[in-house]
Amino acid sequence: MELKLNLNPSAVVATALCAVLLVACSKAIDTKPTVPSLPEVTPDYRTEMAPIFQVQQPVAEAPHHDERAQLGRVLFHDRMLSQNGAVSCSSCHHQSHGFAEPRALSQGLREELTDRNASHLANPGAQFAYFWDGRANDLTTQVTMPVENHVEMGFRSLEDLMLRLEQLDYYAPLFEAAFDDPTPSVDRIQDALSTFLRCLVSCRSKADDAFVDAMPEVWNPWGVLMGEIELNGLDELERRGFELFHGEAQCASCHGGPHFNGWGLDFADIGLDADTEGSASTPIDAGGGFFGGWGPTAMKVPSLRNVALTAPYMHDGRFATLDDVLDHYSHGIQDVPTLDFRLRDWSSGSVVIGGPDLIEPIIFPGGGSGDETPPVRLNFTPEERLALKAFLHSLTDFAFVQDDRFSNPFTPQP
Ligand code: HEC
Ligand code: HEC
Repeated sequence: MELKLNLNPSAVVATALCAVLLVACSKAIDTKPTVPSLPEVTPDYRTEMAPIFQVQQPVAEAPHHDERAQLGRVLFHDRMLSQNGAVSCSSCHHQSHGFAEPRALSQGLREELTDRNASHLANPGAQFAYFWDGRANDLTTQVTMPVENHVEMGFRSLEDLMLRLEQLDYYAPLFEAAFDDPTPSVDRIQDALSTFLRCLVSCRSKADDAFVDAMPEVWNPWGVLMGEIELNGLDELERRGFELFHGEAQCASCHGGPHFNGWGLDFADIGLDADTEGSASTPIDAGGGFFGGWGPTAMKVPSLRNVALTAPYMHDGRFATLDDVLDHYSHGIQDVPTLDFRLRDWSSGSVVIGGPDLIEPIIFPGGGSGDETPPVRLNFTPEERLALKAFLHSLTDFAFVQDDRFSNPFTPQP
């Protein structure tokens, strides 16, 4: 049954019935629409970025760019985008948590749990694959997938969403300002939401300031490791963490680039313990990455921007803290056949790249004598652990998580 929000008399009976059903099956949900309060003058949604960040900038020349981003902001925070008015995009993507959610799995419109941990959102324009398994590669069409997902927002069709938006008075002027026409359409909703997401530019952390200061044009961590570039903006511990991350600990072999996300298109099986439910080592419905070549257990290398705010960690939210994550990389990597070659100990045997999903596995002889190539054991010292954590904390962009342009315009807040 559809829950209609217009207040014509014929819908009232249906609405009352649905309300009874909702209360019966789940805790009471406040489905009253509220009106967004927006600034009198539409703000400039572009954030200046230094060339090293190389983010696909929002197409700022697009007509009414800022108005489209603002409409996207309203849609993002509007609970009316879910079939029963219970959840908005921001119910699972909280700005204060870097647009992630502080729980392992999220609750959708009927309190059912999602299969995976809610991704954080920072610089979606610097990524080429979306979702943990990389099953979407076009942000513009991806943004409405949660609306139709039966667990997340539960509209059976986007046409039903159009009918809903037409009944909400505050949308007509917002669509008019963004598209010179007050009528919502699927294309316009996708345009507005994806414009807003591309405006979620995070480049103002303490580490970012240090990078821009030291290497404004080209991302060059090797220059730092060689002592040619000084990262003066970081304190000694953070700098040591940066060096470990890009050096001995080899985090950057996957989390490389200025967004620490493998330049936006890398996947790996990091040998999480398969005994834990939902583990990456147990094929779920994973698409095996963008090209499928990484195997069905490979997950997207997530960006580590704002990582201190986005706990819990991994695709299933299994690790509550950064210490738990470091325990995994220090001594917890499981020896599964699909383990990424970058997490095997090259010094003790040959390394096979490929495996079940590549037709011809490629064998690289390692430094050791046998073929046994166990997972790496980095065995961090307490000092190394502190340094890595300090560096990861320096990636928190407070300006981003407090930026009014991205905040929830609906009051009272859900
Ligand atoms: C019920 C919780 C929930 C709601 C509501 C929700 N999301 Fe998500 N979102 C998730 C989860 C969980 C994932 C990871 C899913 C996966 O990888 O399979 C995700 C992933 C994403 C991603 C991919 C990010 C990346 O880097 O891979 C984007 C973008 C996104 N959501 C945008 C949205 C938008 C826009 C809306 C509203 C239209 C929305 N989400 C509503 C839970 C939610
Ligand atoms: C072989 C590639 C690879 C290497 C090397 C690697 N990572 Fe990861 N990292 C990943 C992948 C893939 C995930 C997501 C895995 C999953 O959820 O199944 C991940 C997840 C994480 C997360 C959780 C992020 C989140 O949002 O949930 C953190 C933190 C992290 N890695 C830090 C590190 C650090 C620190 C190092 C170095 C000690 C490192 N990684 C080395 C590939 C790698």
